[in-house]
Parts: sequence; structure tokens; C-alpha cells
Amino acid sequence: MSRILVIDDDRSICETLELYLEEEGYDVQTALTGTEGLRKFVEISPDLVILDIRLPDVDGFRILEDLKEEDENVKVIMITAHHDMASTIRAMKEGAFDYIHKPIDIDELEIAIKKALKALDMERKIDGLLGEPFRDFKMGDIIGSGPKMNEIFKTIGVVSQGRATVLIQGESGTGKELIAKVIHSNTTRDEPFIAVNCSAIVETLLESELFGHEKGAFTGAVARKPGKFELARYGTIFLDEISEMSLNLQAKLLRVLQEREFERVGGKDRIKVNARVIAATNKDLWELVKQGKFRDDLYYRLNIVTINIPPLRERKEDIPLLVDYLLKKINHDLHKNIVGVSDEMMETFYKYNWPGNVRELENLLVRASVLARGHILGREDFPELTSPPVTAGKVETKDEARDEYGRFLTLEEVEERHIRRIINETKKNKGEICEILGISRPTFERKLEKYGIKFERD
Ligand SMILES: Nc1ncnc2c1ncn2[C@@H]1O[C@H](COP(=O)(O)OP(=O)(O)OP(=O)(O)O)[C@@H](O)[C@H]1O
Ligand SMILES: [Mg+2]
Repeated sequence: MSRILVIDDDRSICETLELYLEEEGYDVQTALTGTEGLRKFVEISPDLVILDIRLPDVDGFRILEDLKEEDENVKVIMITAHHDMASTIRAMKEGAFDYIHKPIDIDELEIAIKKALKALDMERKIDGLLGEPFRDFKMGDIIGSGPKMNEIFKTIGVVSQGRATVLIQGESGTGKELIAKVIHSNTTRDEPFIAVNCSAIVETLLESELFGHEKGAFTGAVARKPGKFELARYGTIFLDEISEMSLNLQAKLLRVLQEREFERVGGKDRIKVNARVIAATNKDLWELVKQGKFRDDLYYRLNIVTINIPPLRERKEDIPLLVDYLLKKINHDLHKNIVGVSDEMMETFYKYNWPGNVRELENLLVRASVLARGHILGREDFPELTSPPVTAGKVETKDEARDEYGRFLTLEEVEERHIRRIINETKKNKGEICEILGISRPTFERKLEKYGIKFERD
């Protein structure tokens, strides 16, 4: 029979859990203080501890540490009324098995207990597998509540204990880079975080950007230059927009990740890779694998741990928290004193679908704060979201890949816009425009007809 120790200063929680769990066939003991909990722990050496973070005498994290010192394999499920990411990550990082919020959902708790006991069972079979040394937790500012964000915090806590490759997927502006940085700062202090945008540079340049080059490796390589992998040392290399990497370079990257070694472009020396790799994409990478645009072997290499960040419209409950957090940040940065947004505005925020996610919210708040006259941001401060004849969901955008509602354009729409623009802006004749567009005259004519574009000149 598995033995469970419940440490919680709330007597009714202790009693309820005791009653319920005994009925489920566990041997249950309870303690109302940290000290009593520790004493009982030594006395009965339970398989599992359910531990409240807030205790009257000793901090729950302290107890967790002591428990782990007594028995490094003990499974601890932490419980707290707090809904913040810092304690979640910290709990997971310091070796808690799981983390549950009050009010306790008994089904959730039971699932966690079963999982923990199963893990313990397996570990006992394998023996001596665990026991990472504790590191201090560094707070990062990722705002989020709800089960999906909570899972993300847990994952951050777990991956911060090691150096596994992480793939972060999420729409634009969901906080991919932010999460990468938090993982970095929780894992390696005093080492560089180096971000490389894989879409911003042409292939050959990207290769030398990543791996460096020797003097004379190509025209323009006037001196030896170390690549980002070298510069990242024992820190983190963040490969942003990894989906945009050419297949050719994907093959090279794969080799580097497999061998943990590479050569500078035009060089012979083998250089070791010590950096942790975090890749990010706003596309569905698996979909690209299926389309043959992304190597499946590289996908599996990168996808050791995946973090899928939900778009803001799927976690609207975070909007008030984010507004609050972002306004504090803005007040600090811009020396403002904005207290909040009006109820009416908050309602509009809830209705809006946030194609640009948290970044869009942040941008709107910054702009509104800069121009605001009062301390509460109201509808007049967000003309983009509220002013007629704009329909709900409309947002000002200079992003040429999207329409005025933030929706991505189809290829045909982009083509049509592009053709119209060149005709209007260049004022050139058909032959010259065909040259600019790189298409033949008949193709051009077909497109004019398809899009109903009237060409007035020649
Ligand atoms: N959960 C969050 N809590 C607090 N701030 C956030 C959160 N998510 C994103 N942000 C903020 O929103 C902005 C955009 O985040 P970030 O640059 O990490 O997004 P991204 O996913 O990398 O976007 P893109 O795909 O456009 O590069 C940053 O200023 C970041 O600090
Ligand atoms: Mg980014």
C-alpha cells in the first residue's frame, strides 16, 4: 500500500484528503506545519508528499529541499493558492513532481498521484536515475494562467534542469523569444544568449553566420570570423524562424547537431558545439515536413521537447493579467502613470481576436499610453480598435502580408496587389513592367485579365 503524507496548515484540507485518499486505498498521514511534516517524513518515509507552499512556520520550498535531501527520489506534489508562474517553475525546477492549484480539483490530484506513484515505481526498478543538483531559480516575466500556460511553466522548469534541445511553436507575437530567454536564464547564468533569425539572411550568409568562416573562404571574407555557435559558448543559440532555413542548410545543421562538432566555412578545424539549441517557428513544422519542405530527421532532432504556445485569442483570460503587467512595464519605461483600461475597453479587448497576439496588445498599449491624457485608458485612446466605420477586429497595420483585419493574404491577393502597385508606382510600359516582374508578356496579359486590371498605357 502506498504511503502518502499531506503537509498543509489548513486542517479541513488535511481531513478531506485523508478521508478521500484512505478510501482510495492509500495509507495517509497528515501534518499541519512544516516541522511536523519533516518529522513525520523521517518517521514513516512516505512514497509521496502533498505539500502546501504556504506554511505557517517554514516556507514550502524549504521543506521541498529538505525532503529531497532526505530522499532524493521522493515524489512531491506541491499545492498553492498562488497562480503565478514563478512558483510553478520553481516548484518543478526544484524537483517537485507536479503542481496543483487551490481549490483542489480532486480528479486532477488523483491523476497526479497515480502518475507520481507510477514514476516512482519505474525509478525504483531502474534505480538511482534522478538527483539533479538544485539551482537557483531566476524569475522571468511570462504572464499566463490556465492549464496550457501552466503546462508551459512546468516544461520550462523541467528543461531548465538539463540542456535538451527545445522547439518552441507559436504564432507571431506569442512570446517565443521570451520563453527561450527564460529557459536560458534558468539554465545558464553568465553565458551568452545568441539569437539568429534564419529567415533574415540569404543561405550562404546564414551558413557563415552560424558556423563562422576562415579568411578568404569566399569573396568578402577578409578576416576569420567566428560563427554564432562559437559565440554562444556554453549558453544558448536561439534559431528563430527555423522553418525558413533552406533544405541544404538544414542538412548541415542536422550534421552539426548529431556530431556536436562543425567546421568554419572554408576551414578544417573541428570546433565543438557546447551551446544549447532552442529553435522557434510560427509555422506548423510537422506540416512542412509532410510537404517535404522541412527535413524529418532534423525535425526529430529539434523536437526533443516541444513547447506549443497558444495564441492569445485562445487564452483571453490572460488579457487582464497581461494588461496589468504590460502597463506596469510601460509606466516604468516611459515614466507614465497609467492605472488601467476602462471596463468598456477591456470588453473590446475580450471581443477582439488578436492576430498579432501579445506583441499586438503591447504595441496598442504603448501607443495609447504615450498619447493618453488621463490615467485610465478609454476608447478614445484606442482609435484602431474603436473608431467607426471600423468594424470590430480591425486594426491598423503596415504589414503587407496581412489585410486590414490582420488576416494573412492569399498568394493570389499578394500577386494582385503587387502587380497593381508596380503599375501605379512605376508608370512604366508593359514591356518594362514584365521585366520588373520577371514574367513574359502573355503571362502578364493573363494576369491582368484574371484580376480585372485595366492597363491604360501602351
Ligand atoms: N506571456 C507573456 N507575458 C508577458 N509578456 C509577453 C508574453 N508573451 C509575449 N510577451 C511580450 O510580447 C512581445 C513579443 O514577444 P516575443 O518577441 O517573444 O514573441 P515571438 O513569439 O518571438 O514573436 P515573433 O514570432 O513575431 O518573433 C515581447 O515584448 C514579449 O515580452
Ligand atoms: Mg520572435
